[in-house]
Amino acid sequence: MTRESVQSASSSVAQLPRHVAIIMDGNGRWACQRNRPRAMGHREGVKAVRRAVKACRERGIEVLTLFAFSSENWRRPKTEVSLLMELFVHTIRKEIDELHRNDVCMRFIGERSAFEPKMRALMDEAEARTAGNRGLTLAMAVNYGGRWDIATAARELAKRALAGEIAVDSIDSDSLGASLSLADLPEPDLFIRTGGEQRISNYLLWQLAYTELYFTDLLWPDFDDAALGEALQSFARRQRRFGRTGDQVEQSRRA
Ligand code: IPE
Ligand code: IPE
Ligand code: MG
Repeated sequence: MTRESVQSASSSVAQLPRHVAIIMDGNGRWACQRNRPRAMGHREGVKAVRRAVKACRERGIEVLTLFAFSSENWRRPKTEVSLLMELFVHTIRKEIDELHRNDVCMRFIGERSAFEPKMRALMDEAEARTAGNRGLTLAMAVNYGGRWDIATAARELAKRALAGEIAVDSIDSDSLGASLSLADLPEPDLFIRTGGEQRISNYLLWQLAYTELYFTDLLWPDFDDAALGEALQSFARRQRRFGRTGDQVEQSRRA
């Protein structure tokens, strides 16, 4: 290996995000453009999920977090909400064997009490079964809201303070951050939103503090490995400064 190729190999590894968090948006519009019911768009969306999981696994990404249903999505028509719930149950049942075979560790984040027992049992089962897997960690955000996440962490800390386990004055951004969903995993490096909207829609509000944001007009059912590749290339061109100057970052990279 030449010096250049060693350098480019190591820099490409360094520039690969460890954690990618996606808002999968645009299923409804994908179906509308084809004069098909929105349900059809959601079903196509599941195929894009399968592709994204495979692509992330093959590229060596450690964590993929997907926004599947927000705490605000209950506002949709009842028929669409029940269709989505059925699709979740059906998809988890159908995919879990293969995910397990592929060493994928499944996680769910979000408020579970709103779901039917059948769905909750499936989520628990999928997590328990794949807990020991060390390949890709796939976190599905269902009935998730960033504000809910922060409020839940705050309540947890308040309870511990009341129980005398921690001092109120010890509560800081580290302890709050450590009580949030996904705290045990690397923070998201790259955020991708498909569907053209440039907003966060109450996704991982806290966790995205220093995440690189990437928006694409592609609708989620059209998102494929090439589209992921473009997002990864864009990420690789960014300089992440975390408050420091560009020169400082360059210096520490060379050191
Ligand atoms: C994202 O696609 C999927 C969910 C929110 C469940 P949408 O259903 O929001 O699609 P558009 O934005 O209406 O096209
Ligand atoms: C965000 O998409 C939530 C998910 C993809 C699950 P929405 O389509 O619900 O977002 P808004 O309402 O356009 O902000
Ligand atoms: Mg949408």
